[in-house]
Order: sequence, then C-alpha cells, then structure tokens
Amino acid sequence: MAKRKKPEELRSQRWFGAQDLRSFGHRSRALQMGYTREDYKGKPVIAIVNTWSDVNHCHSHLRERAQEVKRGVWQAGGFPLEMPAISLAEVFQKPTTMMYRNFLAMETEELLRSYPVDGCVLMGGCDKTTPGLLMGAISMNLPAIYLPAGPMLRGNWRGKTLGSGSDVWKYWDELRAGNITDRDWREIEEGISRSPGTCMTMGTASTMTSVAEALGFSLPNASSIPAVDSNHSRMAEYSGRRIVEMVWEDLKPRDILSEKSFDNGIKVLMALGGSTNGLIHVIAMAGRAGIRIPLERFEEVGRHAPYLVNMRPSGKYLMEDFYYAGGLVGMLEGMRKLLDTDVLTCTGKTLGENIAGAMIHNPDVIRTPENPMQAEGGLVVLRGNLAPDGAVIKSTAADPKLLKHAGRAMVFDDYNDMAARFDDPNLDVDAGSVLVLRNAGPLGGPGMPEWGMLPIPKKLLKQGVRDMVRISDARMSGTSYGTCVLHVAPESWVGGPLALVKTGDIIELDVPGRKLTLKVSDAELAKRRAAWKPHPPKFQRGYGKIFAEHIKQANLGCDFDFLEGTTPTPEPEIH
Ligand code: FES
Repeated sequence: MAKRKKPEELRSQRWFGAQDLRSFGHRSRALQMGYTREDYKGKPVIAIVNTWSDVNHCHSHLRERAQEVKRGVWQAGGFPLEMPAISLAEVFQKPTTMMYRNFLAMETEELLRSYPVDGCVLMGGCDKTTPGLLMGAISMNLPAIYLPAGPMLRGNWRGKTLGSGSDVWKYWDELRAGNITDRDWREIEEGISRSPGTCMTMGTASTMTSVAEALGFSLPNASSIPAVDSNHSRMAEYSGRRIVEMVWEDLKPRDILSEKSFDNGIKVLMALGGSTNGLIHVIAMAGRAGIRIPLERFEEVGRHAPYLVNMRPSGKYLMEDFYYAGGLVGMLEGMRKLLDTDVLTCTGKTLGENIAGAMIHNPDVIRTPENPMQAEGGLVVLRGNLAPDGAVIKSTAADPKLLKHAGRAMVFDDYNDMAARFDDPNLDVDAGSVLVLRNAGPLGGPGMPEWGMLPIPKKLLKQGVRDMVRISDARMSGTSYGTCVLHVAPESWVGGPLALVKTGDIIELDVPGRKLTLKVSDAELAKRRAAWKPHPPKFQRGYGKIFAEHIKQANLGCDFDFLEGTTPTPEPEIH
C-alpha cells in the first residue's frame, strides 16, 4: 500500500501544530470563527477556491455548491475553508477575461501558498476560469481537484432549441439582414440563457472543463453534468470527500500530468471539435508543469484524432444532449484505443479504470472512431509568410468551400475602424473578399479579445452571404463559427506581417495544405516593414503594465514569462 501522510506531516501543521506565539494566534483566530479544536486539529485544511461572484452569470450556483463540497470535506475528516478568487465573467469583463486569466492563476497560486492549505477544490467553469485556476494549482502543486460549474440547460425560443453564442451570432445576422423582427430578437434574448451554468454549446467552457477532466483533474463525467442537475450537487460532495483522501495520499497535479496526459488532452480537444482557445490554454497549462507543447504537436496528434462529437457550433446538439448520450466518459470509452489509458488521475486510478464500462447511449451525438464526424481533428495550424509563428483555424466550423480560397484583402486597422465601416454600403468588398482585422492580439487587444469572427458586412448579408474568410490576431469565442483564421503570430501590434497587409493585397488560404500566404513580394514587404512604426505602450502603471511587459505570444500560450516552469518558490516563513 502506498505511503500515507501522517497528521503531523500536514503542511497546515506549520500554522496550527507548533507551540509558539504565532501558532497561538492561528489557533485562537480559528476559535474566534466559532470552530472547535476538534474541527481542525490534525485534519487536512481544504481550500475551496471559489470563483462565485454576483457578476458571474455562469457561476451563480457555486455558493450552493461550495456548501456541498464542505459537506463532503467534513464527512471525510477534513477542515474546509472557502476562499474567493477573482471571477472572470466572460460576457461582462472588459477588454476581455483573457487579460485576467494569468491574474487568476497568480491569485490561486498565492492563496494556496500564503495560507495554511493542504489541498484544494477549485470551482470554476466560465471560459478562462478553468485554465486560470488550474495553472495556479499546477504551479503550487498541492493536491487539487477541479469542480466544473457544469453547462446550463438548452435555450428555447418558440419550441426551437437555442445554443449559447452560436445562435446569438446567427440571429444577429438575420436581424441585420431584416429577416427577423425586434420582437423576435427580444424573445431570443429572454430564452437563450435560462439556468445557471456555463455556455451549453461546445464553446471554450465545455472544451476546457472536458480537457481538465481528461487530464485527470475532475471526477469521472463531472464536466458533462448540467449545472442544475442533482447529480451536480452530489458530484460536488464527492469532490469534497475525494480531496481529503488526495491529501493523505499526497497526490499532486504534477503527479498526474505528463506528456502522455497532455496528448490525451489534445485528442479530446480534437474529438470534441473544441474551441480554438483550447490550444492557448493547453500550452499554458503544460508550461506550468514544465512541459513544452509546440503548436506542431496539435497537428501531429490532431491528424490521428478524429472529430467525434456532434455538437454546436460545429454540429447539431448541446451539452445536455451530450450528458444524456453518455457524456465525456462515454466518449472516452468509445475512443479508448486512441488514448493512453495508463495515466493517473485525481481518483488515484488510471484514466482507463475511470472510464471502464461507460456507454454511449445516443450514437448520433457521440460518435466513435469507426464512424466519426470527420476523420481528422478540426483544429488546424497554418503557417506561411503571413503567420511565421503560426495561426489557427477551426475547420469543422468553416464553410468547406472556403477552406481553399484566394481573395482581395479588406483591412481594418483595429476594432473601432471595423465597427465604423463594416456596414458602410460603399465598402469595397464582395463575397470573395478576405476580411482582415489587426491590432487585436495579446498586446494589441489587449488580451486577444474574441473579435476573430468578424461580422459579415451588411450589404453582403443582404445578398445572402453568411461566411467569408476572415483573418486576425484575435481569438474567437468557442461558440462562434465561420472561416476564421485566428491567433496570427507574431501579432500585428509588435510588427508581425499582419501589420504590413494593405487593402487590395491577395491572401491565399489553403487549409488542406496548412498554408496562409500573403501574395506580396519579399522586396515589397521589406519596404513596408521599413516604413512601419512601433506603437507606444498602452499602460504606464498597474496590472496592464505587468501584462504588457510579460505576456507571451499566442503560439506560446500567453502566459507571463516569469510564471512558466517548475522552479521552486519558497514556502512562506511563519513568524
Ligand atoms: Fe460563461 Fe460562456 S459566458 S461560459
């Protein structure tokens, strides 16, 4: 039997166990909160890092869930302490939650480091909260279990199913084209988000919670349970029970993470037809475990990983359907032969043991490698003179006719330029044009806002055009769709080739050939480069200044350079 920790070996004993002036303070202040000595003495202290907030629409049930986690911790003989962390509410936070992902990661790491904590339950789900919490926990490397918020229920409009994000973009275009009324639009607004929980399409939230589970951070099928299902409450309680055991077993994030587990994560990303944001987050999470994942790895692994889940925005169904069809464990069991099932997980068992016997109940929702939606993963990495360090396209969400396309560029210099001009009836574009948005990258945005699904100009919408080739250094919401080339690196703000494109230049997109080419001679590009002027810094102080000085480019995961790797950080002195 594996060695178990003894109570006197608990990290929290440094605060509670000594007989000195400081530990008197720690104990008397715990008593001040109404706890008895029996509540904490010799017990693992479990931090419940909760990203609940009144401003976070997707996490509105997490206060309740925290109580259920606590119930589990008490049952298993632990001492739960809830610790709120910054909540990244995707829709409300500006310029973008991505600017604050690393902030949450730092806060998580430092909460765990600076307080008497032996293990943690991480509570999140809305897009960047998953990677933010996990990056911090991986760096701190104390036992950690992830509790995903769970997807919201299906949206509904006059009996039609509505999907988060995807149907917003779709009906917004119909409104602008004059095909639906203001009243229709208002009813859609009232019906699309009708319960707590994260977006229920295969957007960034469900992509990342599923990848987190596949990496071994959550209990089996935790990521698929709808937020308001009673199974979700029970999963919360079980997570609380399990983390206490993980402390005694000393099972830490870096014990479960390896190149093999990240390859599994990439295969799951592909099988889900997951969000393009997933690439950035997987690279950043791996970086915290000291594992370097170049963009090429997504290509190598993706070519052998089929796209299996028939879910919007690439397919037809929603997360509720996915859960009823068997959920993530059903999908993983169905693709077992493609996975490395020997990797360890938070249950203390291997991935293979966790998924054994799981079933697929609806083969139209969850396919198998024998009957995939598409033989290759849908996230494709492009290179070429327009993206020397890479760009990404979600081919499964694009119009197949546009995957090989050349057209005249229409360049928007930044978001405001685009917003001012895209509905201009005299805009010089046709259905074959290539829309380009620049200065929307990690520094230019800043934070790479999700502007990458550039709107189709109104005059083309009226002609029935619903997709065009669009290129930017921005990201795109995981719920978006269209032929959108994203994450162009290096970004235009720092002088990447996107900064040199002029309206009228020909751009060639070749997804099967993995190429993105600006058809302009090297000599002309050199001339334009010589004339390019760097931007002055946007921030003179505050978090924005730290962000600008340390953020890495999209192909490197957008972590801060000083947070990567596994170099030890000293434990705090207690005196
Ligand atoms: Fe929170 Fe989509 S807005 S998950």
